[in-house]
Amino acid sequence: MERERTRFRQRHPRSGQLAEEAKCSLLFGVPMNWMTRWPGDYPVYFDRAEGARFRDVDGNEFIDFCLGDTGGMAGHAPPAAVEAIARQARKGITLMLPTADAAWVGNELARRFGVPYWQFTLSATDANRCAIRWARAITQRPKIVVHNGCYHGTVDECVAMLENGRTVARAGNIGKPVPLDQTTRVVEINDLAGLEAALAHGDVAACLFEPALTNIGIVLPDSGYHEAVRALCSQYGTLLIIDETHTISAGPGGCTKAWGLAPDFVTIGKTLGAGIASGAYGITERIRDLVYEHTDASNIDVGGIGGTLAGNALSLAAMRATLGEVMTNVAFDRMIALGERFEQGVRGVIESRRLPWHAVRLGCRVEYLFRQNAARNGTEAAAGQDEMLDPYIHLYLLNRGILMTPFHNMALMSPATTDEDVDRHTQVFAEMADELIGA
Ligand SMILES: Cc1ncc(COP(=O)(O)O)c(C=O)c1O
Repeated sequence: MERERTRFRQRHPRSGQLAEEAKCSLLFGVPMNWMTRWPGDYPVYFDRAEGARFRDVDGNEFIDFCLGDTGGMAGHAPPAAVEAIARQARKGITLMLPTADAAWVGNELARRFGVPYWQFTLSATDANRCAIRWARAITQRPKIVVHNGCYHGTVDECVAMLENGRTVARAGNIGKPVPLDQTTRVVEINDLAGLEAALAHGDVAACLFEPALTNIGIVLPDSGYHEAVRALCSQYGTLLIIDETHTISAGPGGCTKAWGLAPDFVTIGKTLGAGIASGAYGITERIRDLVYEHTDASNIDVGGIGGTLAGNALSLAAMRATLGEVMTNVAFDRMIALGERFEQGVRGVIESRRLPWHAVRLGCRVEYLFRQNAARNGTEAAAGQDEMLDPYIHLYLLNRGILMTPFHNMALMSPATTDEDVDRHTQVFAEMADELIGA
């Protein structure tokens, strides 16, 4: 690790200088607190990104499998989106008035995810927050249920975890408004008995679930899990919110389409606008009727669901171009094939070196985790993290021109990623593994 840290400093003097200067004006020395979690002594400052690659301020070239933790999943600066964004920016960015793009995007999201009515936000966090508030208003119930090991953004109710079977604030939760067990019940994914016990109280407005966990390694659902979740929600009068922000990796309509899920709400953000702040939530016809019933039209602007810049013209133009011309069915076919190639490459290295690790894939998203078998729930996945290996592998790859997500070992394929990019990762991953085991 020491050798890699030295190598990092030698390769990134200009980034180091900029990081030093930023300490004078930025809290933690970075524009966002989590940027302190990059391995190395400071974050790499990028200069220019295009497709699946970027160059840093020291002139180093990288293959990007992090892709802005899904924000850049459409590839960096995809020409069709950039042209639409530039065109709209010249014509007007935000006026508190709609443009024709909004209904086009609503129709396209309805076609992809199968829920007909949509609203826009600027982030996935806010899409989740809005969905929760509507669910509470409609059901007149206070609580929500989430999976252990989930991440749905900085939503107060979701920064929770299971500890000895109890719902508590997640480690590091900053300034929580109330103890988490007042708002939330946390259950393990794939634990239907636990879910039923959580719902049987009759006070749960909504389950907010990713179809598969993606923020603690990937944890896939057991076969039949989602059908049972749907049935339990219907039985206990709880609404089902499916967060597709990361699981869009499964295909153009996420897992909702690929697995035939039947949520009441779908939420999504990050990649929708090729990186321009964009989020959305969609609802069924039944929920639309209930929303209308619970809307106080004269106070709609101060009801707790809003955002002055939400649904702005620039964001909608970016979404229209990204969905219409970049994140197409053809692009997903390519991306998923690349995901398979990445998974096979990593599996080959793990098996040939007999490492007690495994790789898991959801469409064009691949993770490796430091445990022998796939985790079945958040607790198992958490136990497969390794505080020393994780930063070491990230830094080793970074020092050889490969960027993975900073918080876990995730790789994402964009429409611009190539076979050669994937094979380069396999090669460096193999070199790292050989050095690690002294082969
Ligand atoms: C599944 C999921 N939902 C929502 C979010 C929140 O996204 P944002 O931070 O862009 O609001 C994240 C962020 O990682 C996520 O992984």
